[in-house]
Amino acid sequence: MKTHSIETIVHPGPADASRDVANRLIAEVHARPNAVLGLATGGTPVEAYRQVVEAHRRGEVDFGEVRTFNLDEYVGLAEEHPQSFRYFMQEQLFDHLNIKRERTQVPDGLAADIDEHCASYETKIRDADGIDLQLLGIGHNGHIAFNEPGSSLESRTRSVTLTAETIEKNARFFDSPHDVPRFAITMGIGTILEARRIVLLALGEAKADAVEKALYGPVTESHPASLLQMHPDVTFVLDAACARGIDQLAGRS
Ligand code: GLP
Repeated sequence: MKTHSIETIVHPGPADASRDVANRLIAEVHARPNAVLGLATGGTPVEAYRQVVEAHRRGEVDFGEVRTFNLDEYVGLAEEHPQSFRYFMQEQLFDHLNIKRERTQVPDGLAADIDEHCASYETKIRDADGIDLQLLGIGHNGHIAFNEPGSSLESRTRSVTLTAETIEKNARFFDSPHDVPRFAITMGIGTILEARRIVLLALGEAKADAVEKALYGPVTESHPASLLQMHPDVTFVLDAACARGIDQLAGRS
């Protein structure tokens, strides 16, 4: 198994790290006006998306030809549900850019035939000639998108059962933990690893362990983010709190 060292960029604080990620998204669109972007949800990318919107408002970046694919969506939530990832994307990004709805793809949590929907999501990514730049966050347990520990390296877009830990972490967005869906649709690890370039943003001390294991731990399906070591072009953008311990470890790899 060939592995690569992951480029790691550490910024003093979350604002600088978010600006860096926003600049990477913008630079991708400047370089390739019809870029295919893979996008993530969660608390982490909110500031980066805000910076992209600001740049667009200043007339610095045009999304008219861009296409996007989101990583995941809760099963059972309609897109009007404020906790659905489609709602999040509209509110945080798409509604503020010149991007037509049909150029943005988010898995449909209400699809009647989920397996068929997942297969067609994969086909759409292939038909778009793949993802140029995939943005990722990371879960406390090392999950990427909703690929929980144990997800296979070859996994494709599919429905998954969320772990108790992920449900508990995401409960902060819902009125009660009982309202958090138990299932989700997620791009697979295999799908994500086919993106031409991957940028993972992680902020804050709570993610430090997960990031350290991803960068320097064994490449294992029990820590899905560690599988990114198999991709030749991955950059982790971190703030100093999240990078705790990385300076000491850097010599080891
Ligand atoms: C969620 C998403 C992931 C995200 C992660 C971290 O459950 N499925 O794509 O990266 O958890 O979220 P946050 O950025 O809110 O910490």
